[in-house]
Amino acid sequence: MSKETLEYHWGKHHRGYVNNLNKQIEGTELDEKSLESIILASYNNGDILPSFNNAAQVWNHEFFWESMKPGGGGKPSGELLELINRDFGSFEALIQEFKLAASTQFGSGWAWLVNDIDEKKLVVLKSSNAINPLVLGSYPLLTIDVWENLRPDYISTFLDKLVSWDAVSSRLKAAKASIEGKSNAGN
Ligand SMILES: [Fe+2]
Repeated sequence: MSKETLEYHWGKHHRGYVNNLNKQIEGTELDEKSLESIILASYNNGDILPSFNNAAQVWNHEFFWESMKPGGGGKPSGELLELINRDFGSFEALIQEFKLAASTQFGSGWAWLVNDIDEKKLVVLKSSNAINPLVLGSYPLLTIDVWENLRPDYISTFLDKLVSWDAVSSRLKAAKASIEGKSNAGN
């Protein structure tokens, strides 16, 4: 990823959303809440409140940075790879679908690999602006920030050199534990 891209999304985007959100919720009841709770409360079942955009963009950017590591890329292994093979046919098919979602998201937004709770499988999604899987009812496993410029090269660099499949694997474990916890609590 180029220095310009990193500085733009870290120094301008992410920082701007944090500062704006902090100003926006200061002194309101949202001020005491966790970022996830602010996102769910301000999404307001689709009747979106002003703080949603900033809160979700902060979360999305954080999740995006944590989807990468130096010397990333390569292939996942273990259970993650088994589920990818089960749900997409092959790792290469997942990559193709993820690239397609990232390159066809109109305007700015995000492409995601998620664990869909209802369908009980891994799914690729794209979302516009700040919308994220937390409000769509699935567990996010991986994301890439997509916007106008130089998309094909940027997407390939992300997948070939930066993506942390370890992070995706541990998110999958956490998602499964959470789903199990909820179904046990329901019994
Ligand atoms: Fe960004």
